[in-house]
Amino acid sequence: MERLPGFRDFYPEPLPHQDVWSADLRNYIFDTWRNVARRYGFREYDGPPLEALELYTTKSGDEIVGQLYNFTDKGDRAVALRPEMTPTLARMVAAHARNYKKPIKWFAIPQLFRYERQQKGRLREHFQFNADIFGESDPSADAELIALLIDSLRALKLTADDFVIRLGSRNAWHEFFERGTRNAERGTQTPDPRPQPPDPRPQPPAARPQPPDAAEYEFYQIIDKLEREDATKSDAKLKALGFSLDGVKEFIAAAKPTAELEVILKNLSARGLGDFVKIDYNVIRGLAYYTGPVFEAFDKKGELRAIAGGGRYDNLVKLISGGKVELPGLGFGMGDVVLTELLKERGLLPPFDAGLDAFCLIEDEALRAASLKLIHDLRAAGLAVDYPLTPAKPDKQFKRAVELGSARTLRLERGATGEVQVRQKNLKTREEKVVPLTDVNSLLSATSGRAGGFP
Ligand code: HAM
Repeated sequence: MERLPGFRDFYPEPLPHQDVWSADLRNYIFDTWRNVARRYGFREYDGPPLEALELYTTKSGDEIVGQLYNFTDKGDRAVALRPEMTPTLARMVAAHARNYKKPIKWFAIPQLFRYERQQKGRLREHFQFNADIFGESDPSADAELIALLIDSLRALKLTADDFVIRLGSRNAWHEFFERGTRNAERGTQTPDPRPQPPDPRPQPPAARPQPPDAAEYEFYQIIDKLEREDATKSDAKLKALGFSLDGVKEFIAAAKPTAELEVILKNLSARGLGDFVKIDYNVIRGLAYYTGPVFEAFDKKGELRAIAGGGRYDNLVKLISGGKVELPGLGFGMGDVVLTELLKERGLLPPFDAGLDAFCLIEDEALRAASLKLIHDLRAAGLAVDYPLTPAKPDKQFKRAVELGSARTLRLERGATGEVQVRQKNLKTREEKVVPLTDVNSLLSATSGRAGGFP
């Protein structure tokens, strides 16, 4: 039996084949994501991997709906495996928003399913670190999220030389679209592509933007595909909406930050993170629900697909709650697939092994019971300890300890006067030390190197 295309098997290291993925590496990435999210005050949530199909059909946009794993369940319900976490989260928040103080700062690491064409960086399932904030319209929240995104990548040892956050804005494109439409109505064929100067006054949270109409959404889709699609095709599509590719390109090239983006940039610079971000209006995001600032993380060489993407979606909770709950939201998703490719390419993966503090050799079967007691006490104290389950030749046992990457071996033996003592060997320095079995405490502290000490 083969696994399905686009799905992965995760094995412990050392990996048996280049075609499988590392469970240790996955844990390393998950642990890092969790750690950084916790440092930023985000709380973990989770939701079901299977949802009502309807949750996606009206909220996520055509592209993702075309990639759904959907079917009718035995109760005749139209259901889908989750292709993204945001609709589930918006549903959960809408249901119990009143029970939580705002802003709500939550994260999750769901496995997501999209029926995509399998290629480099794209599979049919992936894990995605999602971090989202609800109940805050101020751009300081956008900056907080982008800082979390940057720091999650930095915690994996990536630097400003490795990745960049491209920051755009649907609001900027909304204004561009409106200006163009107004000019077209006035009879000016080519809309004025010049970006408007930012409003110097402090910006109050504007009235929540309304969802774009069909023509505007179509315009966003053309912008989203601009870098991938043939220029003549894009130009023809833009012309049909009353715009020109030159006008659009001029606007992108000017890269003039809106007042809102200016606030975000200043906030990030104040933290010393200014070097990680650049204004790039090519980034508009494919998903339908975004309303404000949007961003994507890319490798700096531009060889890989987006590492992460996100932005503001101030209408989604309202849409999903049928108008009952209004709460601005924003967030990002970072996938494990492109990230793993990048970490591998940059040689930033730590070595993975069983992480054993000690391997207990049992060479004298008469001492097995006493060995088991010692192993049990060490494990109870928090150490990772392994041993041979059944009698084995001493050299085989030692080989296994080395293969498992254990920090030390322990061996019970009888001293000159017949008392039981423990011989421990540091496998790195080859240093040996013998302590009486009764002195377990000294053994604990001597053995605790790997686990990093314990009480
Ligand atoms: P997205 O841009 O569709 O956004 O996905 C975010 C990231 O997930 C991508 O940049 C990519 O690294 C990874 N990803 C997506 N699809 C695949 C795939 N088929 N195979 C491997 N990796 C993939 C969202 O999903 C939004 N819901 C993110 C968000 C959260 N926005 C607000 N909050």
